[in-house]
Amino acid sequence: MRLIIRGGTVVDPARGRMYRSDVLVDGERVAAVEKRIPARGARVLDAEGKLVLPGLIDMHVHLREPGQEYKETVATGTRAAARGGFTAVAAMPNTDPVADTAGVIRYVLEKAEDAGYARVCPVGALTRGSRGGELSEMGELCAAGAVAFSDDGRSVTSAAVMRRAMEYARMLGVPVISHCEDETLAGSGVMHEGLVSTRLGLRGIPAAAEEVMVARDLILAEMTGCHLHVAHVSTAGAVRLIREAKARGVRVTAEATPHHFTLTDRAVGDYNTLAKVKPPLRTDADVAAVREGLADGTIDVIATDHAPHAPHEKDVEFDAAAFGLVGLETAVGLVFTELVAKGVLDIPAAVAKMSLNPARILGLPSGDIEPGAVADLTVIDPDASEVVDPALLVSKSKNTPFDGYRLKGLPYATVVGGKVFLRDR
Ligand code: DOR
Repeated sequence: MRLIIRGGTVVDPARGRMYRSDVLVDGERVAAVEKRIPARGARVLDAEGKLVLPGLIDMHVHLREPGQEYKETVATGTRAAARGGFTAVAAMPNTDPVADTAGVIRYVLEKAEDAGYARVCPVGALTRGSRGGELSEMGELCAAGAVAFSDDGRSVTSAAVMRRAMEYARMLGVPVISHCEDETLAGSGVMHEGLVSTRLGLRGIPAAAEEVMVARDLILAEMTGCHLHVAHVSTAGAVRLIREAKARGVRVTAEATPHHFTLTDRAVGDYNTLAKVKPPLRTDADVAAVREGLADGTIDVIATDHAPHAPHEKDVEFDAAAFGLVGLETAVGLVFTELVAKGVLDIPAAVAKMSLNPARILGLPSGDIEPGAVADLTVIDPDASEVVDPALLVSKSKNTPFDGYRLKGLPYATVVGGKVFLRDR
């Protein structure tokens, strides 16, 4: 099938450029990027006034399948991804069973193939059952299609285990994605430790719980030469540690989520469990530091940590509620509203953090729009706006803290291997 994306502004994150051009897709590949391409029977997607980007990649998503299909499935999660403008997602391994065998990795890939809405890149568990003890069969997981390793959702408490995992990951040429949280400091905390937690009488998780582990993992990455990717950076201290390590030449990359660059612990307000997440929402100073880290390149990637939960896991007292929030369908709007419109990132830089950089980190052949490239594309309407309504989310779970937020800059369509998905409004 031939498709022309007509009259849009192509964003080239690798060169930091934007220019008006048509894009011709032939089958699964980009065939031409030229000013005016004659239709000659091709399907035409009108992109006048819109931005045409390399397909967006969310490298931190919980699809919940196998085992927790009541929260999300590969089909519903990838449909939410497509509606959110993503052409690929990395699926975290904290499923049931955990993705610590080649069988689970292959199962997730098959489900994604059937669904077809977005590509899925499975992340393998670092340790068996993500229990932090024995390493998983990392080589087998890689051979089955794992693109990185992580025990996301919890941290690897033993430094010795993390060291070995990093040594293997380095040999395999894939990154270790670290959920940095010292469990002895985080304890049974349920939100950021600070003024708000004191006022609400809730147990806190100090910033140091994250920073102690970031420091440890940076030291281990330096020792092993492994590529460390720090997940969901939330504190000023963590940003500073990563900035310093990068300056020293440590192989480290990092991501921040839309909720951590937008919300503070005040969002917990009156015990709002939709704002209960790990790492917790922090302070104004932390949000400012995360934005600074995004602006100066310390933080390479914007990823959602899409963590669907069912109503019975969120409509309960704060202490008992599950950690996590859904993010796939609000990410683009939050990036444009909170970062681009406010001058934190220009459009090519924002796009780099959602396409080119995750592609490079995970070793995926995307991130560019040029003849011969895989036809994974995202079209965004920078002028479209909407008020977030959880009822309209296509994710199986609706646990967003952004209910009622006005977002400007919305996904319009995705193209995955030449197949078009229009965002239904
Ligand atoms: O809030 C969170 N929820 N943080 C994580 O790291 C894991 C996630 C989940 O799986 O629900």
